[in-house]
Formats: sequence, structure tokens, C-alpha cells
Amino acid sequence: MEISFKGKTVVITGGAGGIGSVMCEQFAQDGATVICCDLKGAKELAAKLSEKGLNAYGLEFDITDRESVKNSFAKIRAEYGAIDVLVNNAGINVGPEERNHIDKFNDTWWDAILKVDLDGTYNCTKQSVPLMAQGSSIVNISSIVGMVPLRNQCAFTAAKAAVINLTKACAMELAPQGIRVNAVCPGTVGIAITNRLWSKNDAMTGLLSHIPMGRQAVPSEVVSAVEFLASDAASYITGAVLPVDGGWTCGGFARDF
Ligand SMILES: NC(=O)c1ccc[n+]([C@@H]2O[C@H](COP(=O)([O-])OP(=O)(O)OC[C@H]3O[C@@H](n4cnc5c(N)ncnc54)[C@H](O)[C@@H]3O)[C@@H](O)[C@H]2O)c1
Repeated sequence: MEISFKGKTVVITGGAGGIGSVMCEQFAQDGATVICCDLKGAKELAAKLSEKGLNAYGLEFDITDRESVKNSFAKIRAEYGAIDVLVNNAGINVGPEERNHIDKFNDTWWDAILKVDLDGTYNCTKQSVPLMAQGSSIVNISSIVGMVPLRNQCAFTAAKAAVINLTKACAMELAPQGIRVNAVCPGTVGIAITNRLWSKNDAMTGLLSHIPMGRQAVPSEVVSAVEFLASDAASYITGAVLPVDGGWTCGGFARDF
């Protein structure tokens, strides 16, 4: 099965980040014109990809700022006309030092995480739909934590669970227009920011012992799942929630007892 995005315009939020930058490059290598969106670093990444002969453009805006999102998608409409694929990939979580039970959870972090991970997905989806024709698709990056919560991360677990239900609601609403909406739930992905998240008290060893495949994903493994769901190969798939987690959410323990 060959997946090609030749002639397609693909918008990726959080495009300058750990997973996002690999995603921008992989989509562009598979023929897409990629619009890499991020708070900062998007233009720099797009320039690097352009130097490699790929079609990439950078747009820098805050997905939590509705006016900014509106203006940015108006710019996309003016310059590219239509969007074939939107990947809502931007997201934030608390670092190890800010993790806490709900009674001690920092309100500022709660507000920030819900704003980026949930509101940001809503804002970008809302502005994309009018730019999408039949056959377009949206992929939301949730997390396995949106399916199976972890302790001390109430905001991230709540936001990512909401993204899953938002995905399903949008899938139902947009199906008559021929727009598919799916979610990918990464487990743990081996990039610098994740490794910092699991750096406290050798948490990574404990984490990996619960993953049947016994390792983290590499970013391209998440991107392949996103590309599949975004492509015509998934033409009858909408409202799906796909874990990319090495078996983490299969249930039980990864070891025999
Ligand atoms: N890394 C993992 O193990 C893992 C696991 C599960 C889910 N995820 C999800 O994957 C996605 C990508 O995460 P990542 O690991 O590459 O993290 P990352 O921090 O490297 O990338 C996230 C990107 O989002 C951008 N961003 C944050 N706030 C923004 C805002 N207000 N407006 C615009 N852009 C903003 C950041 O600048 C950053 O470039 C996130 O949604 C994350 O929750 C990651």
C-alpha cells in the first residue's frame, strides 16, 4: 500500500516540536505541501526542509489565541486555498517537578494545559473546516493517558480524554461533508522532552516495565499512524482512536507473575 500526499496541503500544529518536526518532514517527503505551525521555530524548520527540496512553509501563532488562529487560517486560505489534512499535534504537559495529586495541583498549569491541548484543538479545527473539501481529514494527537489515566497529571489526562471525545463528536458532525476525523494516542515517545518527564527517580525503568514491547516509540512510528489515518487508505475510517503504545493499553502487566 503506497501512501502519497502529492498535491495535498497539510497543516501541522506544534510542527517545530519533537514529534511535529519529524511529522512535517515525513509528510513533505511523501509529497505534501506542509504548513508547519508553532509558537516559534516553524519558519526555521520550514527553511531547513526547503533547503532539502521539500515544500514547507512556516507560520508562527499561538493556538490558544482565537484571533490569531483566525488570522492565520485566513492567511492559509489566501495563499493555499484549501486544506487537505489538519494534524492537531501541539500539546503541553507538566514536568516532573510540577506533578501532583488534584488537591495540590497547580491551577495555572491546569488552565494552561486545558487551553493548549483542548481549546487549541477546538480553535484550529473550527477554522480549518471551512477550508476543507470532501475527502479531507483531521488527525488529533491525544495520548494513551486520555484512555488510561496516570496519577499526578490530572490536567493532561482530562484534556487528552476530551480530545478523544471531541474527535468522535467531530467525526459524526463532519461525516456528511466527507471530512474524516480520527485520533492517535501515543504511548511514550523517545524524544528529549519525554525523557525529562520520566527522569525523576528512575521512573523510565518502571514505565518501560509496563510496556509489553519494552521500549519507547520513535517519532516516525507515531507519524506513520498519523499518515495512514490522514490518507485515502483510511477512507472508511472516522472517529477511530488508535493507540501507538507498544501494547501499553492492552491491560494488565507486561511481565509474567
Ligand atoms: N512525547 C510523548 O511521549 C507523547 C506522548 C503522548 C502524547 N504526546 C503528544 O504528542 C504531541 C506532540 O508532543 P511532543 O512530544 O512532540 O512535544 P513537544 O513539546 O516537543 O512539541 C509540542 C509543540 O507544541 C508547541 N506548542 C505548545 N503550545 C503551543 C501554542 N499555544 N501554540 C502553538 N504551538 C504550541 C510547542 O512549541 C512545541 O513545539 C502533543 O500533543 C503531546 O501531548 C506526546
